[in-house]
Amino acid sequence: MTSIDYSSKIPNNVDLSSDKRLQRALESWQPDYLDWWNSVGPTDFNANDIYLRTAVSVERDGWAHFDYVKMPDYRWGIFLTPHEGDRKIGFGDHFGEDAWQTVPGEYRNSLRRLIVTQADTEPASVEQQRLLGHTAPSLYDLRNLFQVNVEEGRHLWAMVYLLHSYFGRDGREEADELLERRSGNPDHPRILGTFNEPCEEWLSFFCFTMFTDRDGKFQLLALAESGFDPLARSCRFMLTEEAHHLFVGQTGVGRVIQRTCEVMNENPGKDVREYGAIPLEIVQKYINFWASSSTDLYGAEVSSNSANFFRSGLKGRAYEEKKYTDHKALEGAYHVDRFADGRISREEVPLRNAMNEILRDEYIADNEKGIEYWNKICERAGIDYRFKLPHRRFNRKIGDYAAGWFDLDGNPMDETTWTTRASDWLPTREERDYVKSLMKRCVKPGEFAGWIAPPSKGINGQPVEFEYVKL
Ligand SMILES: [Fe+2]
Ligand SMILES: [Fe+2]
Repeated sequence: MTSIDYSSKIPNNVDLSSDKRLQRALESWQPDYLDWWNSVGPTDFNANDIYLRTAVSVERDGWAHFDYVKMPDYRWGIFLTPHEGDRKIGFGDHFGEDAWQTVPGEYRNSLRRLIVTQADTEPASVEQQRLLGHTAPSLYDLRNLFQVNVEEGRHLWAMVYLLHSYFGRDGREEADELLERRSGNPDHPRILGTFNEPCEEWLSFFCFTMFTDRDGKFQLLALAESGFDPLARSCRFMLTEEAHHLFVGQTGVGRVIQRTCEVMNENPGKDVREYGAIPLEIVQKYINFWASSSTDLYGAEVSSNSANFFRSGLKGRAYEEKKYTDHKALEGAYHVDRFADGRISREEVPLRNAMNEILRDEYIADNEKGIEYWNKICERAGIDYRFKLPHRRFNRKIGDYAAGWFDLDGNPMDETTWTTRASDWLPTREERDYVKSLMKRCVKPGEFAGWIAPPSKGINGQPVEFEYVKL
């Protein structure tokens, strides 16, 4: 069993106490982190006991330790999956060489940029979700929100550890800036677009954890292959936590759908709004918004940056080692639909330049499984409605398709048509207001707000009516 240094202020399995300089740097960052948590993290729940999972070891039986914790006392630790003996670089020009245990000088800037971009998303999502606790539909959901929040905080710790220990002064400056940017702040925003979008009600939270955290999953999968071993090992451990975030999103949207189907069956022909449920069409519009925004996070369809990250062995493909045989990707091409001068045309792109699109394809295929899961809920309830993932061209702000307008099936249209039709596809002000109007605090153990069904089971074998948060 890998030993964890619990006697120090920062729980870790990286032998922090042997590096006094690093330990001091992190210990001086810690109060700034707590200030950040207290000022823009979840509001007003810092004194409550919450039934949380804390990583106390990276082993199969130790990383999910459940107990009541006050969020500011959460043990935000630094955990890497253990060394795998002599790990080799798994792709790119350095394929087969020993994985780097220190930063390769020539790639220092690219590597720092990759780490900072990933790191920035972690505190951003906590900021986006900070007010949701006040309108929780149940104690079960409230607990899940806070679980996601503390783990995003831990992911920030994981990335700051890398910056502090491997990037010297630049790394420390970057770590400070991670606590200074703010989601949605026009003067000092978070780096990526989706992480500046408001997330003001729970339907958005569930869509965010479904679609945006799933982008996180695929970015982490690509970084988990990195030739820079400490990054790979950090991301591998983060993925174990990420799975719960995706569960919260997929089942959260699913429970909204389930509730609406029940109301439809009980009141045939009626508008479910009369009964305080969310129409399936509105759920679809939220899906359209968050799925399209998150699809942007993969960047441009054809990208020399992504080619460079791959060439240098910094960021691979998802499941690089397991799924592919040609890890150099020097031969062969990828078919990418390009859009220029109002026309879509299929192009053969050298594989390395298509890495963004390859990762996006994996992401989209994973999203489709979520859609299927939701459609099964409708099917079981005997409701005809079927959900659909919007086409990747829909509502894009980044890449080729940002230059055009497309419907949910990816068909191009002119701007005027888009302007008149957009409200059929994306939530309108009235619809958002309606969803917001339903967000009323419902926090008696075992009770659920009228717009969402209870989950099929509780957390960690506890009953659904368990007191997940002591208010
Ligand atoms: Fe995360
Ligand atoms: Fe996450």
